[in-house]
Amino acid sequence: MRPFSFGGVLLATFIYIANAEFTSSHKLHKRIHVYPPYVQVKPRSYIVQFEDYLPPTHAGHFYSMPGVDVQHHYSNIFNGISVRTDCSADSTHLASVNGVKRVWPVRVYTAAGYSTGLNATYPYIHKPTGVERAIEELGLDGKGIHIGIVDTGVDYNHPELGNCWKTKGCMWQYGADLVGDKYNPYTENPIIVPKQTPMDCAGHGTHVSGIIAGQGPTVYGVARNVTLGMYRVFGCPGTDPGAGQTSDDFIIKGIEMAVADKSDIISLSLGGGSWSDGPSSIAASNAVKQGIVVVAAVGNDGTGGLHTVSAPAVGNGVLGVGSVDSWNYTVSMMMIVNEHTSQSVFITPSNTVGYPFIFETDTPVVSLVNNSDVEACVNITQDLTGIVAVFEITSNCSPLSTIASIAQAGAVGIILIYTKPGLTYPTLETGQIPLVVISSDNGQFLLDAIAQGPTTIKALKSNPTITIPADKGSGQISTFSSMGPDPNLGLSPHVMAPGGYIYSTFPLKFGSYFVLSGTSMATPYVSGAVALLKQARPNLTVKEIGEILLTTAHPIINSKTKKVEHPYKGGSGLINVYDAIKSRAKIDPPMLSLNSTTRGVITTYQDLSALGNVRWTVRTIKLTNMDVNNNMRIDIDYSISDSLSMYYKNGSIAYTPRVWTGNAITGGINNTEPVVYIPDAVKSIPSGKTGQYTVILVAPKGLAECEGWYFGGQLNFNLKWDGDLNITPYHVPFAGFNGDYTKLDVLAPLGSGFPFLGDENAKPVDPKNLVVSASNPISVYFSMALPSHLGILQLVDANNKKIGYLPQGYATDIPHTCPTCSVPNISVIVNGTVFTDTDLTNAIEAPAGKYYLHSAFLRPFGNTSNSDDYQTWDSPEFTIG
Ligand SMILES: *[C@@H]1O[C@H](CO)[C@@H](O)[C@H](O)[C@H]1NC(C)=O
Ligand SMILES: *[C@@H]1O[C@H](CO)[C@@H](O)[C@H](O)[C@H]1NC(C)=O
Ligand SMILES: *[C@@H]1O[C@H](CO)[C@@H](O)[C@H](O)[C@H]1NC(C)=O
Ligand SMILES: *[C@@H]1O[C@H](CO)[C@@H](O)[C@H](O)[C@H]1NC(C)=O
Ligand SMILES: *[C@@H]1O[C@H](CO)[C@@H](O)[C@H](O)[C@H]1NC(C)=O
Ligand SMILES: *[C@@H]1O[C@H](CO)[C@@H](O)[C@H](O)[C@H]1NC(C)=O
Ligand SMILES: *[C@@H]1O[C@H](CO)[C@@H](O)[C@H](O)[C@H]1NC(C)=O
Ligand SMILES: *[C@@H]1O[C@H](CO)[C@@H](O)[C@H](O)[C@H]1NC(C)=O
Ligand SMILES: *[C@@H]1O[C@H](CO)[C@@H](O)[C@H](O)[C@H]1NC(C)=O
Ligand SMILES: *[C@@H]1O[C@H](CO)[C@@H](O)[C@H](O)[C@H]1NC(C)=O
Repeated sequence: MRPFSFGGVLLATFIYIANAEFTSSHKLHKRIHVYPPYVQVKPRSYIVQFEDYLPPTHAGHFYSMPGVDVQHHYSNIFNGISVRTDCSADSTHLASVNGVKRVWPVRVYTAAGYSTGLNATYPYIHKPTGVERAIEELGLDGKGIHIGIVDTGVDYNHPELGNCWKTKGCMWQYGADLVGDKYNPYTENPIIVPKQTPMDCAGHGTHVSGIIAGQGPTVYGVARNVTLGMYRVFGCPGTDPGAGQTSDDFIIKGIEMAVADKSDIISLSLGGGSWSDGPSSIAASNAVKQGIVVVAAVGNDGTGGLHTVSAPAVGNGVLGVGSVDSWNYTVSMMMIVNEHTSQSVFITPSNTVGYPFIFETDTPVVSLVNNSDVEACVNITQDLTGIVAVFEITSNCSPLSTIASIAQAGAVGIILIYTKPGLTYPTLETGQIPLVVISSDNGQFLLDAIAQGPTTIKALKSNPTITIPADKGSGQISTFSSMGPDPNLGLSPHVMAPGGYIYSTFPLKFGSYFVLSGTSMATPYVSGAVALLKQARPNLTVKEIGEILLTTAHPIINSKTKKVEHPYKGGSGLINVYDAIKSRAKIDPPMLSLNSTTRGVITTYQDLSALGNVRWTVRTIKLTNMDVNNNMRIDIDYSISDSLSMYYKNGSIAYTPRVWTGNAITGGINNTEPVVYIPDAVKSIPSGKTGQYTVILVAPKGLAECEGWYFGGQLNFNLKWDGDLNITPYHVPFAGFNGDYTKLDVLAPLGSGFPFLGDENAKPVDPKNLVVSASNPISVYFSMALPSHLGILQLVDANNKKIGYLPQGYATDIPHTCPTCSVPNISVIVNGTVFTDTDLTNAIEAPAGKYYLHSAFLRPFGNTSNSDDYQTWDSPEFTIG
């Protein structure tokens, strides 16, 4: 593989925060406190504080007040009273009394610290995935199953991760460090000095490990008795580009060692590239062929829209995992105090690895919102010594440089306000200052407080981390979760698991626990779930495990549209391991990827001929009744997802896929929804037997082919076994392209500004007056709408003679690019050096003269030797001299 030099990248080194995730936005009336909803309070009970100058006898006013019952009268350490009221008196009532300074509800404390809060992370996340029932009802724990993890290593000294390494009875029985701390794939001679054990210096692998097998009481993994192996393939994070990254060579080595060490399951929370024929995909597919279940993350490029799934998750037979947001958030608290206000608000748990956001004493806080230095992206001149700074991400500057500048000005902490939905922010692995994130409404509250006068904050170490229900995102697809289809129109992701806002173990030296988000977190969840399934049903083949996990997954229903999510976003849905274990049916294939729809009239079936000239295809599905005692009855129907397009109506790329929102017209010749027809559907299958279904799928004729719609939905097999009262639903998602995929352009459309010639800062240059040379190079910049299997860039002289390939001018497996993706765009240098061979080994210098660039990118499924299968672009003319 010779990519435009993009190394393998670690997924989820970024945390993604979606819209409005923190709920408390209690603007304070001057004197009345309202606690955030998670705080338990005693009904109708209040603490009333008097102004300092008043004597305690001021309480006398309340004894005679109707509806108020004074409970306690304080005089020594507190100037005030506690009261209980009836429905005629409330806090406003109390606050209106002369001389009252503040009124609080009476808060209830749980005796044993806050363990209930922490415990709550255990039950809920495992409920919707069926893991709780598998553990509690079926007694499964993954015992005897071996999971090999290829990642950043693990802090095996963590008490919830065994606190042991390869000793007898230890959960860690195999694995190794392959690279050492200083490995940097970008350097010419990487330093490779593996250590005795794969100790984690990044945190990612320790987080992943806790999701699989955290022992509690804080983090309860999915399969707590599995045997684990860790293959560390990442060096330590650092400031050098490439530090803390890895490369295909070590990923493959890691997979290989995990196979040799007899893993039943291999868990890969990493990836890069997008093709199933890349090296890591191949390695993963080969492990599958040897009977190992390989689970891999589809990637965190969901904000780039369709076609963002990555390798090796797209490898043949690999289970590609997408992410849904957790149903609960783990948050921490901060107190905001000034003359007028005293209020607790939610903040994220600290986001800076190794720099906990803890302020035991009142610490001044200032706002850098609208600060002119920050706006201008220059070093901050204001002295921030000993101060916590608040800022918002503005679009102009890199947040990382602003953070560095704030730290340099002496600040002791940073509170970052999120203003826009779906923004990302880095987990500062090499951060130099404590940092937390606050929601926009709480952020506004903080800014308002600062505007009132000197304000301080306090964040105690003893403050509990708290679990609160997610206000919107519960169980919905994470915005960062990469979308299918894969470059061959294969259906991806396959299955979803919780990956957004996951609280798990972290290296002890970095604070022991951390919230991370990513498909990296969803992947180990599925690995653990497969361990439970394998423990319960050891004789299932890899293929059967995939079929059962996918067809028993629970479809994800979009909370706004109430429709099932498109398979390119949600795959088969959320895994449910309990239903998978209990499954008595097998469906092959478990997903239908509708590749080659043909256009024509369906004459065979009278019901469909009325549709006229349509795109359609026929598939066969086999359904096996695995119950050896009972016959099974079948009822089939189907559900439709909203169709998605990569383009707006005006033709520019829609990185958030455009959704078909027109009126649904079904059945007629203008149908805007796909039509599924299953003639002669078998209604019952005897025990142990297999039935076969012919499925005719018709693309939505009413959607314009030129707009590039991807349609989809799912077949619902509602099964009922003899002797059962309940119907068990199984689902087979289907998706396809409404048009001729092979004709699609792979380059971003006209109007995107790409391709163009630019300087090293990607500023377009005017080629007319340009003399390009080794000392005055330019670059050619590309943006890819679709992945392309081959891209060619040649220098052509004034006589239309092709002189040679540019450096990196012959490249395979080019991904879809987007402004927020791991590959934002592609640039190739033009400096006069070209290569006469496609291996790019035979360099020559182009003689001085006039030239232009000829580029050619292979269209989907194109034949490399057929020039008609390429999309081409020629640059304006320029001079080399
Ligand atoms: C926490 O969960 C564990 C395991 O389910 C349970 O035994 C324990 O009682 C729980 N603790 C609290 C305080 O709820
Ligand atoms: C792990 O297995 C041991 C031995 O079979 C058993 O005693 C223990 O309860 C199991 N732990 C869990 C969390 O299931
Ligand atoms: C920052 O500037 C904008 C635009 O002038 C204004 O709307 C906003 O209120 C300012 N915010 C603060 C905190 O000063
Ligand atoms: C900002 O501070 C950094 C670190 O001290 C320094 O390297 C850089 O030159 C400064 N930039 C400006 C514009 O002063
Ligand atoms: C977690 O979320 C679920 C679903 O929203 C909710 O029922 C549950 O109460 C939440 N748990 C806590 C501790 O807030
Ligand atoms: C779709 O068809 C093309 C061309 O026949 C083939 O190369 C590709 O692998 C097919 N994709 C799937 C998912 O079957
Ligand atoms: C798995 O297969 C073995 C050997 O064929 C058999 O003895 C065993 O009963 C099977 N186990 C289950 C759970 O079906
Ligand atoms: C195309 O339409 C989208 C959505 O309406 C808009 O955001 C975008 O700016 C338009 N692009 C052009 C080139 O007009
Ligand atoms: C289908 O759409 C065409 C064009 O909009 C319209 O002329 C025709 O009447 C429609 N036919 C039906 C059956 O709705
Ligand atoms: C042109 O750029 C390529 C790629 O960076 C480099 O290998 C080559 O040496 C450069 N040519 C000259 C003459 O500097």
